[in-house]
Amino acid sequence: MTVAEIHFHNQLSEDNFPTMVEEVLAGLTAKPKYCSPKYLYDQKGSELFETICELPEYYPTRTEEAILARAMPEIAALAGEDATLVEFGSGASRKVRLLLESLSIQRYLGIDISREFLIESTRRLAADYPWLEVHAACADFTRGVALPEVIDPKRLVGFFPGSSIGNFTPEAAEGFLNSLHQLLPPGSGLLVGVDLVKDHQILEAAYNDADGVTAEFNLNLLDHLRRKLGIAFHRERFHHRAFFNAEESRIEMHLDSRTAQVLQLKGKTIRLREGESIHTENSYKYSVSGFQSLAARAGFGSRRVWIDDQGLFSVHYLTSSPGMQLMMEHQSQQRP
Ligand code: AVJ
Repeated sequence: MTVAEIHFHNQLSEDNFPTMVEEVLAGLTAKPKYCSPKYLYDQKGSELFETICELPEYYPTRTEEAILARAMPEIAALAGEDATLVEFGSGASRKVRLLLESLSIQRYLGIDISREFLIESTRRLAADYPWLEVHAACADFTRGVALPEVIDPKRLVGFFPGSSIGNFTPEAAEGFLNSLHQLLPPGSGLLVGVDLVKDHQILEAAYNDADGVTAEFNLNLLDHLRRKLGIAFHRERFHHRAFFNAEESRIEMHLDSRTAQVLQLKGKTIRLREGESIHTENSYKYSVSGFQSLAARAGFGSRRVWIDDQGLFSVHYLTSSPGMQLMMEHQSQQRP
């Protein structure tokens, strides 16, 4: 096999370091303590996440893939011809293969924060789809989105799978969708995977798998911060905790300190009490109509929504065309 060409756009300079120090320090000195979930994704973290996607308890990935596979003819019709496909948080770029098989796409841009992982996976895409023009942008899209200049934004189809949008608070999700709305020219579409509210046991099992991969994924954050920032974290001094917060409609992941401990970062002292937690992730769960109203507030019309038979997961096709109304006849597939 020849080494495939990709166009790499570096939007995250190595100089991200000062930003990262500042962000992490702000979180670890806040009350209560938190750390952005984007720092879960170093090379190891991205790999662990791929393992999570295969776990029996973790229903979102396989459910979304099945929904996409079944909906593909309709998605192809909605996306039309010759659009550029832009994927946010492309990770292993696996799901996008379903789209590339069925849609008439000439150009793909994957955006991810995890540099080496992004390059490896987009290279594999370029090798497997020789006609495809493949772009990779290493960027932190939680801080805003800008397309590399070579991407002519005439007709774009955005792809934001996996319910990654659930990492944002609803307010931030609306803000993010709004910035995509500014970016996507009229006629563009946005295909978004959104995890649904459901039985709490199913939800909690998905984030407390029997093999402890999710725990490992969460604890790996400490290794990442130790390596990048030099914080002397010992992972044995923490444990993984995940639960459904029904009031906020979100799964929360925490790292709980097993002991009282004192840490240093850039001359600042970070104190943890025994049992004190660092909140590392929110994963918001929506109802179909709840997500549609959020999207509407950000300027998107809901063209179509697909859900699986068990009502576990939803995939929405949103458009930024003006005046687009909810197409009620398409809602008939939904369950209460
Ligand atoms: C990538 C944010 C969609 O929230 O389910 C998986 C991340 N965290 N297990 C999710 C995650 C723990 C995942 N997202």
